Amino acid sequence: MSTILCLTNSLLLSILVMFQILSLPCLCFTAFLFGDSLVDAGNNNYLFTLSKANSPPYGIDFAATNGRPTGRFTNGREALGGTSFPPPFLAPNSMDNAVHGGINYASGSAGILPETGTLFIGRISLPEQVDYFEQSRDYMVKILGEEGTLSFLRNAVFSIAIGSNDLIDYIEPSIPILGHPTIDSSTFQRFMISNLTTQLKRMHRLGARKFMVVGVGPLGCIPFVRAIELEFTTLCSASVNELVNGYNERLRHELDSLNTEMDSSAIFVYANSYDVFMDVLLNYRDYGFEDVKDPCCGGHFPSFVCNKGKDTQGYSRTNSSSDLCGDRSKYVFWDAFHPTEAVNIILAEKLLNGDSSVSFPINIRELYRYKLRA
Ligand SMILES: *[C@@H]1O[C@H](CO)[C@@H](O)[C@H](O)[C@H]1NC(C)=O
Ligand SMILES: *[C@@H]1O[C@H](CO)[C@@H](O)[C@H](O)[C@H]1NC(C)=O
Repeated sequence: MSTILCLTNSLLLSILVMFQILSLPCLCFTAFLFGDSLVDAGNNNYLFTLSKANSPPYGIDFAATNGRPTGRFTNGREALGGTSFPPPFLAPNSMDNAVHGGINYASGSAGILPETGTLFIGRISLPEQVDYFEQSRDYMVKILGEEGTLSFLRNAVFSIAIGSNDLIDYIEPSIPILGHPTIDSSTFQRFMISNLTTQLKRMHRLGARKFMVVGVGPLGCIPFVRAIELEFTTLCSASVNELVNGYNERLRHELDSLNTEMDSSAIFVYANSYDVFMDVLLNYRDYGFEDVKDPCCGGHFPSFVCNKGKDTQGYSRTNSSSDLCGDRSKYVFWDAFHPTEAVNIILAEKLLNGDSSVSFPINIRELYRYKLRA
């Protein structure tokens, strides 16, 4: 992404304009992010949870912290949030950012359904993420007033990347407390969509107008799923990808309906991460990757633990050659669940500038500029 500066403070506008002439085009927008570990920027650091990425080697390639872990579940940048990095909601003093660059509410192991991710203990489910947004909004109203808040939110981009964990919980060998196994897959997909729609409409009532909803990627190809499905020789589990595709199709259809229903007073973009990711997997050599199956960190077999913390000298024990791959830029998967920064950057670039096969009906760059009907 060539977004280099993201400041919405109007006092800085003239400086920005000057800067723009001398440098790359600036794409600055306020972003509110919701989702799971694909977009968590550190909320889980503040929770009691088994789903954490705040120790080395997570973040080892994250330039903004010189390789210090941040709570992002990858080696560097995530696909959403650009380079403005809206702070995690739970971080101290994040609130001020609510009226500037935006806030990140995403939480590792969270799902659309409140019960998803129970095994990891702490996580912020989508309904709770929207509760937190509501708190931020109360703060915005104090600063900007009700009218000011509405016009501020009208121009902000609301990105939602969630659903993977709901589907992973569904396919996992029956875990009694989750109580899903008796539901057939299409009923489960419908539950996900209707629960998601409830939250999208809630955000809309609170003033959100520009939405980007990211579909679920090809989960059947991630090392964790291939292991639990015993797919060691094939690139992907076809049955799991079929489940994902069924969900994505319903999602796409639902977003079409919302666009019709809202009649250009709001816009819902569908981000087709599935096809982008699948293209990388199938043509990985063309993209410069060498390993498409193994996680760079955490080894080849369950339990796939990448996060090994520090030794007594404070160094990560996980960057020994047996635990961490040699060249991180050659791997598609960072750990058993998450893509490497290299893949995230490809995805970010496609969502920003791609055609309607990637981002429908418009891409993120167009979404940011999009003029809503008054
Ligand atoms: C949300 O999902 C649950 C299953 O987890 C389902 O019982 C409920 O009907 C769904 N809610 C809506 C609004 O569809
Ligand atoms: C891990 O990497 C850091 C910096 O890249 C290095 O200083 C440290 O010695 C490494 N630790 C091991 C055990 O290889």
